[in-house]
Amino acid sequence: MATTGASRDAFGTRAGFILAAAGSAVGLGNMWRFSYQASEGGGAAFVLLYIGMTIILGIPLMLAEFGIGRRGQSAPVGALRRVVGPHSALVGWLGAVGSLLILSYYSVIAGWTVRYALEALFVGFPGDTGAHFGAVSAGGSAAAFHVGFMVATLLIVMAGIKGGIERVSLVLMPALFFIVAGLAVWAVTLDGAGEGYSVYLKPDVGDLMNPSVWRAAAAQAFFSLSLGMGAMMTFASYLDRQANLPQSATIVAYTDFGVAFVAGLVVFPVIFSFGLQGAVGASTVGALFIALPSAFDAMGAIGRVVGTAFFVALVVGALTSAISMLEVVTASFIDEFKVPRRTAATAAAILATLLGLLPALDTDVLGLMDKIAGEFLLVLGALLLAILGGWLVRKQMLEELAAGASPWWAAQVPRILAVLRFVVPPIVAAVLFFSARETVTTVVDFFRG
Ligand code: PFF
Repeated sequence: MATTGASRDAFGTRAGFILAAAGSAVGLGNMWRFSYQASEGGGAAFVLLYIGMTIILGIPLMLAEFGIGRRGQSAPVGALRRVVGPHSALVGWLGAVGSLLILSYYSVIAGWTVRYALEALFVGFPGDTGAHFGAVSAGGSAAAFHVGFMVATLLIVMAGIKGGIERVSLVLMPALFFIVAGLAVWAVTLDGAGEGYSVYLKPDVGDLMNPSVWRAAAAQAFFSLSLGMGAMMTFASYLDRQANLPQSATIVAYTDFGVAFVAGLVVFPVIFSFGLQGAVGASTVGALFIALPSAFDAMGAIGRVVGTAFFVALVVGALTSAISMLEVVTASFIDEFKVPRRTAATAAAILATLLGLLPALDTDVLGLMDKIAGEFLLVLGALLLAILGGWLVRKQMLEELAAGASPWWAAQVPRILAVLRFVVPPIVAAVLFFSARETVTTVVDFFRG
């Protein structure tokens, strides 16, 4: 199916590509980061700004990645070199390095979710979830689960696009949607769920005007949509010119928002019906790994069933996102160094595993890496891609994005590109400025101890 490089892998079906891209987008970001950020940012105000950012920034940026990737038929480094020019290959390397960094700590958090899912299934939730989390989140066992999760990710990526990533996404993504929707229906039955819904769904005007909530909503949209690191670009490089890119980007963006939104319909009622809101804001991991398990524990047998389902959904989301990050690095190695997929994937996974030992042994390092890579590098990548795609290669993008699109979608392309040129860069530049400031403060604080 690929137009260049006879041996290049490709997606077999349209649904396979969309589910793999949605699999990349839907992950820990939708449940771990989203619920935490939403509770920090005043619930509904954050949710409203977040859907706005998904539509105004997310869809155009995803489309820029799709367009460059499909046209370049190569991993980000090669795609940018071919489509934009030799210097922009650096932006591709930035994506590969960023993906590697995010993957390394993401795998540590994913390791926790695997552990929680297994514990829920076989032994039940512990009484003191705070102490339990403290004991298992860093150290030898966290490192062991991190390594195990990385091995699973590696096995899927080694099996290739069609035989590995597409096949896994086609099964796991519908399973994830089903579990999360089922949990949201169950949450309606909880006593006191109403208070959770009202915090989550009733916007406070003060929060809506707060610039830091705007910044957080934009950064969350990039992270959640896997933008700025070349993940979407890499997947699109395995497409042919029949695929409808603007429609696919829209479906993926709405799916991603939908899962985050529905996950909030689970997390907020559970937390509020057990009066656990304090634990949520206390730390980035509070909602998922401390408050929710303690609610599940208090519910007895039902809690075990529901809790197992919840953590299994998290594991699934984490796995389909992790494979996309490992694929960015793997594809870069394959295309740049002409090595076989197995070698490239193994080398990438070893690098990410070693790097991930730092956050596995110290959760402060994890927070630091999330700031540097998950907020700063990602937003920087998004800004550079908006400029490259919207300004430097606009003509090619107009043509590429319309190829394969139905007439209605093709007619939207110039509009979306206009947003990419004029609306996205100034907003992302402002977000980058504030993210840079926050990142510097966090780094300085970290090294001062
Ligand atoms: N989108 C993923 C999530 O929400 O969990 C995280 C992610 C994947 C970020 C791939 C960046 C990336 F390149």
